[in-house]
Amino acid sequence: MTGLSGKSVVLCVTGGIAAYKAADIISRLRKKGADVFVIMTKSATEFITPLTLEVMSGNRVVVDMFSRDFTWEVEHISLAKRADVFAIAPATANVIGKAAHGIADDMVTTTLMATKVPMVIAPAMNTGMYENPVVQENISILEKRGVRFVQPASGRLACGDSGKGKLAEPEQIVHEICAAAMKQDLKGKTILVTAGPTRESIDPVRFISNHSTGKMGYAIAQNAQMRGAKVILVSGPVSLDAPYGVEVVPVISALDMHDAVISRLDNIDWVIKSAAVGDYRPANVAGEKLKKKDNDMSVELVRNPDILAEIGTKRQKHQLVCGFSMETEDLLNNSRSKLEKKNCDMLVANNLKTEGAGFAHDTNVVTLLYRDGTHEPLQLMQKDDLAGIVLDRLLQLDKKKD
Ligand code: C5P
Repeated sequence: MTGLSGKSVVLCVTGGIAAYKAADIISRLRKKGADVFVIMTKSATEFITPLTLEVMSGNRVVVDMFSRDFTWEVEHISLAKRADVFAIAPATANVIGKAAHGIADDMVTTTLMATKVPMVIAPAMNTGMYENPVVQENISILEKRGVRFVQPASGRLACGDSGKGKLAEPEQIVHEICAAAMKQDLKGKTILVTAGPTRESIDPVRFISNHSTGKMGYAIAQNAQMRGAKVILVSGPVSLDAPYGVEVVPVISALDMHDAVISRLDNIDWVIKSAAVGDYRPANVAGEKLKKKDNDMSVELVRNPDILAEIGTKRQKHQLVCGFSMETEDLLNNSRSKLEKKNCDMLVANNLKTEGAGFAHDTNVVTLLYRDGTHEPLQLMQKDDLAGIVLDRLLQLDKKKD
């Protein structure tokens, strides 16, 4: 699960002009399923009203530590306990300094002091302030304590200056909050994922390809990154946004993909080959556009290297290899022989003809096949959820190896 369903997020809003963007952040968090509790500093209320954020979050916004309008539970302790993730967005130089040095003089910093949950801080301030060594030192103190920072963007700032200091995009802040809520069980792993189709050129205008959209591989890459892995995504041509925090290596043909994967293999812990690689390519690629003639025409095709099979022969003992197979008939037998032939630890098999499976859908229905001869049929589910399960199962196999 890469969402926030059933999770509570405490969002602290501090006093910069970007405070108005908190409304957007809250709305996105709620769309991901989170229960959001907002705490504001007094100065934040100069930029956006508590009422606005109360309506957006659906929960009472807390500003004043000494408000008499309280429940019997000590408010800052109850918020600190209730949270799964604690976020500060926008975070001023002031709140970062207080957090780094243990000052707790308002509701935000007092709650911060009492919480033990993962923390995400998105700074927003004038460039001069952001670049000030004291601010940078405070950021690195907090980073060493495990706080995730969402780097501010560069651009024209509200004060008229240009430079680094603009609050990161709400989408990116929400991504970091989602990642912070997830178990970091893939920390220390380097995972190479392949995704999408390949294109095999016939001439400068035409190519042979397939219907793969890359959705499954991109979901796996994003899920692994959020769980703490270093992820390299070797991707054929797709129209998806690059996943956050993932190194994307764009390739076009099967030969490009082969070189990109094999040259990186030595430093990889897991290889997940979800790409739909073209098995054949035209024997000759015409230098100029082929002219149509009155009669029929044929294109001679030659075999592409089977990247997965080559990984199967070159793999080191500690590495895990996961292949994918798409079939239209006799799914289990065909997939079992593929797993063995290509020397994989696990194979994700799907039948293109099953409702909700295959290319271009947001869902998939697969059976997981293991090297020990067992298999596990899974229900129809979102590709995002399936990505999580594929990684869970690989982690179990990895632990068995130790
Ligand atoms: O043999 P088949 O193409 O059905 O196997 C699919 C699996 O093999 C996928 O994991 C795919 O990424 C991989 N593959 C490959 N190189 C090829 C063809 C398929 O790595 N040339």
